Amino acid sequence: MFRRVNFYSICFAFGLSVLLILAGSRYTDNTNYRPISESRRNIKNFFKVDDGEDTESQPVPTNSYDGTPNIEKILEKTRAKIQFELWNYNFTYSGVKKLDDLIIETGGRPLRSIIISSWRSGSTFLGEVINAIPGTYYHYEPFLNYGIIQIRGSPLAETVLNSIKDMLKCNFEEMDDFLDYGRGHNHQFSHNTRLWDHCKYKKELCFDSDFMSKFCKLFPFQSMKVVRLRLRLVQELLEDKELNAKVVFLIRDPRGVLQSRLHRDFCHPSPDCSNPELLCADMISDYVAASRLLKLYPDKLMVLRYEDLALNLNSTTHKLLKFLRLSHMQAVDEYLNSHTNTEVSGVSSTFRVSREVPFRWKNILDFEYADQIQMACKEAMNLWGYRMAHNATHMTSKEFDPLETYTITQ
Ligand SMILES: *[C@@H]1O[C@H](CO)[C@@H](O)[C@H](O)[C@H]1NC(C)=O
Ligand SMILES: *[C@@H]1O[C@H](CO)[C@@H](O)[C@H](O)[C@H]1NC(C)=O
Ligand SMILES: *[C@@H]1O[C@H](CO)[C@@H](O)[C@H](O)[C@H]1NC(C)=O
Repeated sequence: MFRRVNFYSICFAFGLSVLLILAGSRYTDNTNYRPISESRRNIKNFFKVDDGEDTESQPVPTNSYDGTPNIEKILEKTRAKIQFELWNYNFTYSGVKKLDDLIIETGGRPLRSIIISSWRSGSTFLGEVINAIPGTYYHYEPFLNYGIIQIRGSPLAETVLNSIKDMLKCNFEEMDDFLDYGRGHNHQFSHNTRLWDHCKYKKELCFDSDFMSKFCKLFPFQSMKVVRLRLRLVQELLEDKELNAKVVFLIRDPRGVLQSRLHRDFCHPSPDCSNPELLCADMISDYVAASRLLKLYPDKLMVLRYEDLALNLNSTTHKLLKFLRLSHMQAVDEYLNSHTNTEVSGVSSTFRVSREVPFRWKNILDFEYADQIQMACKEAMNLWGYRMAHNATHMTSKEFDPLETYTITQ
């Protein structure tokens, strides 16, 4: 009897201390915890089609870190936080039994996803939607240091594909170029909010391959976005059974893309970014690749048009998460709400904003330039289901719907 009472009191004390540790990791240390709902942004950022070349909207540290970070303590708190945030996650939905099965540190295999896109096509927004899911480690644009180029084949393709595999497996040991680039470019790390929560107070953490590898290995969901790699080359990643990555390919109307790129200083000097012929040759090559890869790996590739995502934000996001086998929807709903429910000058609802943003080019783009794009992009637009505008009046009219249905013939 006495023994039993003792046993229960030990259990009680143990339970209480676990609760206290969790609560402590959650609330007492604001360097380590930031609720998702707090990261509301200004409406200007909604549906931004950023690509990582902008540094204006980067989070700025609000208070400085006044001590040497204890790496073991950071790792310990991060483990506890991930467990806490995913305590009621349905792991069956993700094809495993328990959290540890998805964590590299404990011998598991994470769910990995890669967004493949191009500059100004909505990939920053999509990346943030996925990053809203607790337990996500977001490998944001790992090839910023390559400059404004497209990678279409050898010799860069091999290097880049190996780096992607290393990063998705959290091996940062041989990633010196990547880590060094981050020294002068915070935005390489700051989109990875869970990592930046620590690096913003102590930048050196993010240049430390040992810390980076250990920290990354705690996360059950590994996501990445890349705007510099064409889809054809992704086959090698889909083939990799050990990696077991899923790919989301995101494409956008070349008129919207180029209109948006017009105002970006980084873009103009680079033909890969500013030349309609090159953009649309890539779009054709991506279409052919999508068609082949969908046949080979129907459950590993999802193809999305930015415009369809914007017009059907909720249902497309649900479809996307289902494809990625991610079941935690609440955080994503919160993210979408905080980015779509803001009133704009009290007149237009965000519903309108989100639906109109992808088509803003219709009223801004000079028809002569639009037509020049259309001439260069006839085939690409036809394949991806983008309609031609006949003249300036037609282009700006309400009747002109740039979208038609498209199919990827397999
Ligand atoms: C978890 O997901 C599986 C597979 O989708 C489903 O069959 C099961 O009902 C879910 N369990 C709960 C508690 O929601
Ligand atoms: C979003 O889509 C899901 C699934 O398609 C649906 O269950 C849910 O009710 C939708 N939410 C809103 C706010 O429309
Ligand atoms: C512009 O195109 C529309 C649709 O094809 C056509 O009906 C209209 O006559 C054209 N306007 C001019 C000025 O060419």
